[in-house]
Amino acid sequence: MTNSSVKFITIEGMEGAGKSTNLSYVIDFFQQRGIEFAATREPGGTEISEKIRHLLLEHHTETLAPLAELMLIFAARAQHIDKVIKPALDAGQWVICDRFTDATYAYQGEGRQLGGKKVELLERFVQQELQPDLTIILDVPVALSAARVEQRGGELDRFEVEDSDFFQRVRDAYHQRADAAPERYALIDASQPLLKVQAELLGILERLLD
Ligand code: TMP
Repeated sequence: MTNSSVKFITIEGMEGAGKSTNLSYVIDFFQQRGIEFAATREPGGTEISEKIRHLLLEHHTETLAPLAELMLIFAARAQHIDKVIKPALDAGQWVICDRFTDATYAYQGEGRQLGGKKVELLERFVQQELQPDLTIILDVPVALSAARVEQRGGELDRFEVEDSDFFQRVRDAYHQRADAAPERYALIDASQPLLKVQAELLGILERLLD
């Protein structure tokens, strides 16, 4: 990174963890302090990567092989890094990304049971040295996640239709990653009232700016 004070922040969490609401809170935090940032998301973030996102989330008449899913995610990521993330960091902007490679370890590595080795191989190949400085994980139990998704209503995407075993593996993977590198992760209990979640977020962001 060219400017050592500039940071790459990613936000993770399962369906129904309140990621959108809390992401808006993080964005407001940076706006209020006049800090330049790029807010983006994965899969997606560029015209081509958003097309790949549609492919990944839509239902198809043929099943998508887990390995093909993994490769599509990294194809979208390579484009996103090249067109959005690196240029922003190089220009001295912070980057706030709604999901990144931790989601791949959780959903493809463990959810789809491809294993972490394949994810790691592609991570090295596609990202080289690029890693988030901070990853915020909004954690909710699987049953609460499912209840919130049901309450929201509407059509379920290709991931949301997965069963509770899949999401338990996803959640366990996030926990394992946070436990293995506590200096890089902030795991927040997102089943708490929103005000408490945001008080924790505020503390984390203020410490980051210090
Ligand atoms: P979203 O719900 O945060 O918009 O993300 C869309 C879905 O994509 C979500 O169910 C998680 C999934 N996903 C993966 O399976 N692997 C990944 O690497 C990423 C970034 C997302």
